[in-house]
Amino acid sequence: MLRFRNLLGALVLGAGALLSAAPARAAGEAVAIPDTRFSFDGIFGTFDRASLQRGFQVYKEVCSACHSMHLLSYRNLLEIGFTGDQARALAAQFQVMDGPNDQGEMFERPARLSDRFRRPFPNDQAARAANNGALPPDLSVIVKARPGGADYIHALLTGYSDPPEGFQLGQGMNYNKYFPGHQIAMPNVLNPGQVQFADGTEGSVENMAHDVSSFLAWAAEPELEQRRRMGVRIILFLVVIGGLTYAVKRKVWADVH
Ligand code: HEC
Repeated sequence: MLRFRNLLGALVLGAGALLSAAPARAAGEAVAIPDTRFSFDGIFGTFDRASLQRGFQVYKEVCSACHSMHLLSYRNLLEIGFTGDQARALAAQFQVMDGPNDQGEMFERPARLSDRFRRPFPNDQAARAANNGALPPDLSVIVKARPGGADYIHALLTGYSDPPEGFQLGQGMNYNKYFPGHQIAMPNVLNPGQVQFADGTEGSVENMAHDVSSFLAWAAEPELEQRRRMGVRIILFLVVIGGLTYAVKRKVWADVH
């Protein structure tokens, strides 16, 4: 009984903490995040491989200058439809640190499929020093780490503008409508035509933001499609078992009046 009371107490406290935290969070996020249509929305949604590949290109050419994605290896690129040769060639465009060699020195070499995505800075202090004191977060699971997920990333990347009249912008900071507090150390990094997509997709800010948000959603949850397929199978299984059980029940009780 005592244990039960403790549990009940903990539950009440937990609920109280959640309720009191909610208004604080709401105050920081006055602007609603617009809903973007992604191919992976809804229960039957799947990733669009071409979009993921373009998204990786945006990450490679723009975001990887500041952001690491240390949970990914170059071999993971095979999962978004790149062939082995393509993935090897993409990896080789990055230089990673290896060693020590026979002289005891570290050396740089082109990345291989087995390497993790290259980190742009040797450590967090160097990253802060290069970014006005702010740390560019690792993007491996950023879609799971922010309310709004891929919609938020898309909104953030397209949400830069001049600050409204009277807004005090800190030194080296940028105004962004969707960033909590509206001041972000990350500059507006996407400009029209910045990335030239091989498949002829226009390199508009909207397309780049959309594709890189999709890529980051995939990176954060590569097993999304399997999870949904399994869910659908389980529902089908339950429907069949439910039907059978009902039929058996009817049969067993048929003679009881
Ligand atoms: C010039 C360096 C630089 C580049 C290039 C860059 N970022 Fe950033 N990014 C930053 C910094 C610095 C921060 C931390 C901002 C802060 O805390 O004020 C940041 C923060 C973020 C955040 C977290 C925002 C939050 O809610 O905390 C996301 C998401 C993000 N960047 C995505 C991207 C994407 C996607 C790209 C490529 C299209 C990109 N960044 C390119 C420097 C960069």
